[in-house]
Amino acid sequence: MLTKREFLKAIGLFFFGTGIYVVYRNLSYLSRPPTKKIILSTEDLKRIERLYLGDEYIIIRENKGFLVFSRRCPHLGCKLSYDPVNQVILCPCHRSKFTLKGKYIEGPAKKDLKELTFTHKEEGLQIEI
Ligand code: FES
Repeated sequence: MLTKREFLKAIGLFFFGTGIYVVYRNLSYLSRPPTKKIILSTEDLKRIERLYLGDEYIIIRENKGFLVFSRRCPHLGCKLSYDPVNQVILCPCHRSKFTLKGKYIEGPAKKDLKELTFTHKEEGLQIEI
């Protein structure tokens, strides 16, 4: 049986731990690296027939524009590649597969690809990573 003092000490430790956790979560959110912006020139865009694998992004040409996805697998972050035979985006680590519209097909990822924000500017495509 806890004494009143031990009980209050346990409650105090609980709230102290919760407070530390909340502060840590907020600080780690604030310390995220700033958004990086990459610009692909109009000339580079013209060379993309169907798909382009950038270092950190994947661009898919559509009839009416582009789709842009993160090249990081939503499972554990491996760098995605392209399987031209089956026309799927493939993770080499655990074999997750995605359509060219970024939709999850199979594998442990269980999520669609992360879409990246982009804007079509006069000088090209600006991608936010
Ligand atoms: S990291 Fe891509 S499926 Fe595991």
